[in-house]
Amino acid sequence: MTTITSTMPKKLVIANWKQNKTLAEALVWCVEFGRLVGEADKIDMTPVSLVVCPPAPFVEKVADVLKLLGVAVGVQDVSPFADGAHTGFIGVNQVKQFASYAIVGHSERREDREVVLQKARLCIEVGIIPVVCFKSLDQYKIIGGAVYALEDSENISQNGVYRSKSLAEVQKLVDEARRFFGDEPKIIYGGSVNKENAQELASIAGLDGVLVGNASLNPVTFADIVGKFSL
Ligand code: PGA
Repeated sequence: MTTITSTMPKKLVIANWKQNKTLAEALVWCVEFGRLVGEADKIDMTPVSLVVCPPAPFVEKVADVLKLLGVAVGVQDVSPFADGAHTGFIGVNQVKQFASYAIVGHSERREDREVVLQKARLCIEVGIIPVVCFKSLDQYKIIGGAVYALEDSENISQNGVYRSKSLAEVQKLVDEARRFFGDEPKIIYGGSVNKENAQELASIAGLDGVLVGNASLNPVTFADIVGKFSL
């Protein structure tokens, strides 16, 4: 297996598997993706940081396999509480061994701003990088160390049908977000990213990467998207 390493500034490509895959399917994905990366001499993986966010029960096993590739693992959510009597929640202290990233505030979770901010703060405290999803700039103030994912629920794919914003719309939003957040934080785009639009998204000035849902479920498609960000 090829290990992906570099000290260059990197584009960030995050796979969000949502509530998909069995453990067996997750491990098959990892092996298949590893094979593609190993074979992909045509794709220079060094300019890309990859993160895979599997369903929570598979995070440890998937992390074990993907670390051989230099691919980080994230969780799709974390508890807004540190520890304690909170049935069903999974806290930052429980995932920090395996997960380097955590998606917080995804629109599919329909959470209040304060809850999302609390989750992001807890992540930072334990050294997990929060990927804070936002639709409008007034939603969040700047949280040092966070990645911001520009994502509107109306652009999230539905039943495999993509409905992304146009390149011009994304560029406009990225420009606004850059003015708001400054040069420092990574800003990525999510919402119907797929192998057809990845190339043009990769060319957007000021955009540091993408959050990929449906199109990340197939390792071949995901490797294709990663390839567009490594050019
Ligand atoms: P999608 O999902 O790529 O399937 O649109 C993106 C997301 O919800 O993170």
